[in-house]
Amino acid sequence: MQIYLDNSATTVVAKEVIDAILPYFSGDFGNAQSVHAFGQRAKAAVEDARRQVAALINAAPAEIVFVSGGTEADNLAIRGIAEAHQAKGRHLITTKIEHPAVLAMCEALEQRGFRVTYLPVARNGIVNLQDVRDAISDETILISVMHANNETGTLQPLEEIAEIVNERRAQGHLHLHLHSDAVQSIGKIPVDVKKLGVDLLSLSGHKIHAPKGVGALFIKKGTRLEKLFYGGHHERDKRPGTENVPGIVGLGKACELVRLNFTKRTSRIRELRDYLEQRITAAIFTVQINGDVERRVPNISNLSFVGLDGESLLIALDLRGIAVSTGSACASGSLEPSHVLTAMGLSRQEVRGSLRISLSAYNTRQEIDCAVDALREIAGRLREMLPTDEVEASSVFSS
Ligand SMILES: Cc1ncc(COP(=O)(O)O)c(C=O)c1O
Repeated sequence: MQIYLDNSATTVVAKEVIDAILPYFSGDFGNAQSVHAFGQRAKAAVEDARRQVAALINAAPAEIVFVSGGTEADNLAIRGIAEAHQAKGRHLITTKIEHPAVLAMCEALEQRGFRVTYLPVARNGIVNLQDVRDAISDETILISVMHANNETGTLQPLEEIAEIVNERRAQGHLHLHLHSDAVQSIGKIPVDVKKLGVDLLSLSGHKIHAPKGVGALFIKKGTRLEKLFYGGHHERDKRPGTENVPGIVGLGKACELVRLNFTKRTSRIRELRDYLEQRITAAIFTVQINGDVERRVPNISNLSFVGLDGESLLIALDLRGIAVSTGSACASGSLEPSHVLTAMGLSRQEVRGSLRISLSAYNTRQEIDCAVDALREIAGRLREMLPTDEVEASSVFSS
């Protein structure tokens, strides 16, 4: 038995996506820059995909730049704005709970003389709007706040942050930009760049049933940014390198599938997630849900099995063919405690006992039942192995 409940890490490639991609490995393998028919077919496919991505987020096709994934999109947005606008100011604002693709880029910029403010979050994982307001100075050129967090699924108040940015712009602060990493929100909640009021937005294919190694950055018309790489004039001179035609076609198709099946898919995922949480909280007393339970994407459940060790739960589940993840071993594969849960003020015990279960429309109720039964049994066994003074603090079963 194999049950995959780690869809925030990556997703299976949809069959429709595979079918759409395959011709671009064989008959239509041309270089999208070539003038002959092979090239023109590849170019037409890339432009179709650009329209499909743009349609999903209410952007113009010309505002979409294809890149190698979420990491590159984040790097291009942040470094691109920093380098293009440094004459106006060298201050950036982000949050303590961003993905390493944002945090490490910001740290690298600090090494180059930029100043970065890392906003804290409350216990529910959400930034305070007054903190955003207070952090802005005339020197600020970029605010980068993720849409949904990859560990908890918690949503940030992006529209309100955009209002703050617009107020500042109305006062003449024209070099202030707003970027959002929407890698975990695309396909889970509606993402409309106009409603959100962002200048830049990152997305990644492999979180929405497209292949790994492809993503896109939305760059609002008129936004000036420096490119990361130097080479040819691909992607309107913002991202050189021969286009990854199969990957781009796959991303386009995945975006179209999201758009056409949005309500059906997301309500199904939400139902499954709620069922999972109901069953787990009914079975195990001391489990807690981390992050805001209302303001979050429908597919992520971040749970703390207080008193137990998330890594041990993960490994025991894996031995039974059930894949989940912990915050602690997240993107970096390190054993550092989750910087997200730590920033939310969770205790060491709560962080240590955390587990992320993330769903997709491909999961079933039976899989959830299996996973909960396994968790209940494993949690019980691990609890029996605890020293007696720790048992009090750990899971107590309700039935
Ligand atoms: C919020 C967030 N941003 C960025 C990334 C990086 O995306 P990619 O794996 O496509 O580089 C991830 C992937 O885990 C993510 O969850």
